[in-house]
Amino acid sequence: ADGIEVVNEGKLTTCTHLSYKPFQYEEGGEVVGFDVDLVDLVAKDLGVEQEIENTPFETITTGAAFNNEQCDVAAAGMTITDERAKVIDFADPYFKANQSVLAKGDSGIKSEADLAGKKLAAQTGTTGLQYAEEKIKDAEVITYEDLPLSLQAIQNGDVDAVINDNGVLYDFAKENTDYTVGFDIETGESYGIAVKKGNTELKERINEVLKTAKEDGRYAEIYKKWFNT
Ligand code: ARG
Repeated sequence: ADGIEVVNEGKLTTCTHLSYKPFQYEEGGEVVGFDVDLVDLVAKDLGVEQEIENTPFETITTGAAFNNEQCDVAAAGMTITDERAKVIDFADPYFKANQSVLAKGDSGIKSEADLAGKKLAAQTGTTGLQYAEEKIKDAEVITYEDLPLSLQAIQNGDVDAVINDNGVLYDFAKENTDYTVGFDIETGESYGIAVKKGNTELKERINEVLKTAKEDGRYAEIYKKWFNT
């Protein structure tokens, strides 16, 4: 792919963890979303098509997906952390995020203190789970493998609240008006597209594409498409 070595000839293979609407989710048999559009710009720059592979989130954050030659890049609404940066390389930040807590509109859950004695859903291997375990000591934290299972748990009445990134929870609350984001937690996270540890060539290419897309308005266009509706 234009001088860059890839795991599947003629393609840019992206590992992600579905579903994480609006960053990556299935619609009409296709994976779409903010991250998908962004990585499409990289694929286009390399003159190839993006192919998306769904894989457990921790397969990405531990570097296993890259070490197995499963994919060239990972884009999964994934927060850049020091721990992850030891085993995978991150391109420049592309999106800012915080944690949020979703609850039923009439639940009265408006602060961390209101979670005392409550059941809180968190997603396996995520920064939200880490925050809940370290800081929300009075809640009973229950882990779910992905975001849809966490959201199903609150809809089934199995949990009282869900902690996850602000973008996905606000998106859910917009379409499910019985639910609301009770409060936000300013964690100051940044999402990064990742590559295999040491793949500096691809990382720099991604950085170039991101920089150009921010300058020429393509980043803004994609942002508007997924967040200004
Ligand atoms: N930003 C959070 C993290 O990096 C959650 C990401 C979850 N992403 C996903 N595609 N399921 O830990």
